[in-house]
Amino acid sequence: MINDKKVLFSGMQATGTLTLGNYAGALKNWVQLSDQYQCFYSVVDLHSITIRRDPADLRKRARDLLALYIAAGLDPKKNCIYYQSHVSAHAELAWILNCFTYMGELNRMTQFKDKSRKHQDNINAGLFTYPVLMAADILLYQADVVPVGLDQMQHLELTRDIAQRFNKIYGDVFTVPEPYVGKAGANIKSLQEPDKKMSKSDENPNASIYLTDDPDTVMRKCKRAVTDSGSEILYRDDKPGIRNLIDIYCAMTGKTPGETEKEFEGKGYGQFKEAVGESVVAQLRPLQERFAQVSADKAYLSGIIKENGEKASYFATKTLRKVQQKIGFPARP
Ligand code: TRP
Repeated sequence: MINDKKVLFSGMQATGTLTLGNYAGALKNWVQLSDQYQCFYSVVDLHSITIRRDPADLRKRARDLLALYIAAGLDPKKNCIYYQSHVSAHAELAWILNCFTYMGELNRMTQFKDKSRKHQDNINAGLFTYPVLMAADILLYQADVVPVGLDQMQHLELTRDIAQRFNKIYGDVFTVPEPYVGKAGANIKSLQEPDKKMSKSDENPNASIYLTDDPDTVMRKCKRAVTDSGSEILYRDDKPGIRNLIDIYCAMTGKTPGETEKEFEGKGYGQFKEAVGESVVAQLRPLQERFAQVSADKAYLSGIIKENGEKASYFATKTLRKVQQKIGFPARP
């Protein structure tokens, strides 16, 4: 608890351009949760270097992501928005937790298996211990809840196992975190292959709507979205293309699938796609405007980065010192 509020931690990697899926499935929910919890939202740049990055590009993307958190509506006075790399306790706790995690556990992680298949020329130890760093992120702030996508659930379960293992030896040191899986928009799929998640790393640019897409691009991608045979707007498993467009429409407008079916009864795919595109444009426009404003104000951003980095360090160091003491490292005179 901080200021009588439960603690929430989440983070995103600064790789690729964020998609509508990241926005609707994560960022938008984060904003809704930010009143209820004491929130830490990190730009997890330490996680990003498990794959080779161009330094200038990494720096720019990290800053853009941080600005985007703010543009999406996270108030940086209330939410601790910071770079993971500015808080050295993350790497220090990750080392300690490495010694409480088994090779067998990490070997079972499906993301590790997927990523090592994709990057056969660079299967580095960081890729292997990535989930331990993620555990350190969460446990450092004694987080009660962690909003994550389903693809990160296995990592969160590992985090809980590590916390419980540690607590069993040393007493109640860590809060054991619970997952928070958002409802609406958690599951936006590719516009081209609606059985796959909409991803920032998709090679087909028509598969994803990026948060930086201008209105014409959004409309074009929506019109080109893959649909199913038939002509009715129905929310059904055997119509994955239309179902996905309904999910997008609902995430943008707050309507339910049932309401959407009714709204478009007797209307065709063309008309529906047009409406989906317009609903996306209406959400992205203010976001993009705010992003441009925030990004341009360098002094403002730098102030936030410094202030929130220090705030995060304060809480993280508190936990780290406790852990170091429990383990038996010498006290600092
Ligand atoms: N691994 C997460 C992802 O790729 C990002 C992440 C890093 C994270 N540390 C975290 C998410 C801690 C939640 C909590 O999506």
